[in-house]
Amino acid sequence: MDLKNDIYLGDCLQKLQKIDNNSVDLIVTSPPYADQRKQTYGGVSVNEYVDWFLPISKELLRVLKPTGTFILNIKEKVQNGERSTYVLELILEMRKQGWLWTEEFIWHKKNCYPGKWPNRFRDAWERLLQFNKTKKFNMYQEEVMVPIGDWAKSRLKKLSETDKIRDNSKVGSGFGKNISNWVNRDKAYPTNVLHLATECSNKNHSAAFPESLPEWFIKLFTREGDTVLDPFMGSGTTNIVAQRMGRNSIGIEIQPEYYQMVKNEMVERNMIIFEPDVEYGKSTNHTSNEVCGSQHRQLSPKSYKQVKRTSTEKSS
Ligand SMILES: C[S@@+](CC[C@H](N)C(=O)[O-])C[C@H]1O[C@@H](n2cnc3c(N)ncnc32)[C@H](O)[C@@H]1O
Repeated sequence: MDLKNDIYLGDCLQKLQKIDNNSVDLIVTSPPYADQRKQTYGGVSVNEYVDWFLPISKELLRVLKPTGTFILNIKEKVQNGERSTYVLELILEMRKQGWLWTEEFIWHKKNCYPGKWPNRFRDAWERLLQFNKTKKFNMYQEEVMVPIGDWAKSRLKKLSETDKIRDNSKVGSGFGKNISNWVNRDKAYPTNVLHLATECSNKNHSAAFPESLPEWFIKLFTREGDTVLDPFMGSGTTNIVAQRMGRNSIGIEIQPEYYQMVKNEMVERNMIIFEPDVEYGKSTNHTSNEVCGSQHRQLSPKSYKQVKRTSTEKSS
């Protein structure tokens, strides 16, 4: 299978315009949080955040397939002793824009910093907001099943009469459970809390995802050959994991040094780089050594199953 891995250097608002309507299966991204990491990669103020993000989410809505999913990692900080509300405001505005706010996963950071604050405890979780375009999106739940665990041994040993029949939700949600269905099974569906350790130590980016984070969502919402987008690519975790899992990927990063870092990592991983002669229908004069120009590059990755090598390949 031939896979495409496209990375762009520039502002995602502009670069997203290069991507076709309804062409992406999954977006997993972590934009800069409001008022944070100004030293590292700028920062948008809390008051401006929603206005800044909405034109970007409009583009994301355009490029996502109707069956696709958008996972947005974000967390509001504390300001003047109160949690900021810009994330909540953003959710409301995105719903007006046409997004469905389907779910909120919690990323529990297993190894968060120790500390003491006078009026609160350590921040050990972040939001992973799930948005969709339609209610019928692709979801491959079997791919993320987990060992059923010890609770099953005790819980399923003595079943009550209610446990043996479908126990319909009392709030009329239409959902129900029949606990006896789980006897003799060794796997169960996971919860919406992801217990993952942060793993920034081996990356040159101050806010990199642990690889297991995009990996979990890529398994859950895509198949091999699908396309995954990270419009705030950073160190390229989403793209590199997507490529390793046999998915096409697209990444956009505004900082040349991060863009370069992703490119280098792809070279280190022995991925094959194509320098397109023609970019979006226009001729370009870029040389193959120019790595931080604003042009779009296609990196042909080593696929899950096989890498098709051609005579135009370079493994610089
Ligand atoms: C929180 S970091 C993403 C980290 C990434 N998930 C990883 O694993 O490395 C956000 C990234 O978005 C980039 N960025 C900020 N504004 C951007 C914009 N308008 N377009 C594209 N990238 C942007 C920043 O330079 C930063 O690298």
